[in-house]
Amino acid sequence: MITTSGLTKVYRSRGREVTALDGVDLHVREGEVYGVIGQSGAGKSSLIRCVNLLERPTAGTVSVDGHDLTALAGRGPRAGRELRRARSRIGMVFQHFNLLSSRTVQDNVELPLEILGTSGKERSRKALELLDLVGLSDKAKAYPAQLSGGQKQRVGIARALAGDPKVLLSDEATSALDPETTRSILQLLRDLNRQLGLTVLLITHEMDVVKSICDSAALMENGRIVESGTVSELLATPGSELAAALFPVGGDASGDDRTVIDVTFQGDAATRPVISQLSRTYNIDISILGAAMDTVAGRQVGRMRIELPGVYEENVVPIGFLREQGLQIDVVGERELVKDGAK
Ligand SMILES: Nc1ncnc2c1ncn2[C@@H]1O[C@H](COP(=O)(O)OP(=O)(O)O)[C@@H](O)[C@H]1O
Ligand SMILES: [Mg+2]
Repeated sequence: MITTSGLTKVYRSRGREVTALDGVDLHVREGEVYGVIGQSGAGKSSLIRCVNLLERPTAGTVSVDGHDLTALAGRGPRAGRELRRARSRIGMVFQHFNLLSSRTVQDNVELPLEILGTSGKERSRKALELLDLVGLSDKAKAYPAQLSGGQKQRVGIARALAGDPKVLLSDEATSALDPETTRSILQLLRDLNRQLGLTVLLITHEMDVVKSICDSAALMENGRIVESGTVSELLATPGSELAAALFPVGGDASGDDRTVIDVTFQGDAATRPVISQLSRTYNIDISILGAAMDTVAGRQVGRMRIELPGVYEENVVPIGFLREQGLQIDVVGERELVKDGAK
């Protein structure tokens, strides 16, 4: 639904150049909620502004719902009209809501429809329908200053839906909200995604946002996507930073001659007694150093950090046994060992 390829953005100001996007290849499938997470300055906002051409990419292409937006940008009045039409099908939600304070809630939602040239009666019908959808039908005549942060963001979402978009872009939509309001706004985005089949691309610096509503996620650093995939794929990827952050488990080895591994359970593996089988089959004592169960992207996932007696070489067979059971196994510190061995 959204594809960027080689997307690059270089800002030039006062002789200085900042490469905010450095060849980003992103692929968001129709109907999914896709989260891009990264620290401040990673290039997340630049990415989302380039996706709807609010910002003109320096290089690369953006296509949304089969339209190559980059090909339309800056190619004369006819292409300009097409670009505007394509953009009206992309809704955008902002961190600071960007509502007009002099307009009522309803008039804020009607604004994009005015720009599209929709008739007054139709605008009003549509705005009220959307306010109902976001749970604000009683606030149509209120002004933004009379609303809470969560209500303002609901207005922002209703306005973003005015052009019947297929895609909703959200730049830190919940970052200015308290945790409870954040949950309710995320739930609303999830409901809209399900009810309307809306594809959602959201940008966040909060792992909890990814954890609670994203089907897929990408990690951005220094203008690049360094990891991406569906949440289940990420959880099944050895050494994935995103997986570790989505699902942290702690615990240190109790001695040098021990092997520490993280075991990730997904789906039906979560309910099988694999640890006791392991212990019985190989007659070894297993200590649990840390464990957590959680729902990630609507699936039950468990992760356990366990310690086996003996160094890694002595545990190759039991670890193989766990992998044969379809479990994701990360040997803690193994990568460092491999690196040392390569020296
Ligand atoms: N309009 C701009 N002009 C110059 N530099 C910018 C502009 N917008 C963003 N940047 C720079 O680009 C980099 C990425 O910024 P941004 O996309 O806002 O990241 P994020 O949203 O992840 O915090 C930062 O170094 C930022 O200072
Ligand atoms: Mg930003």
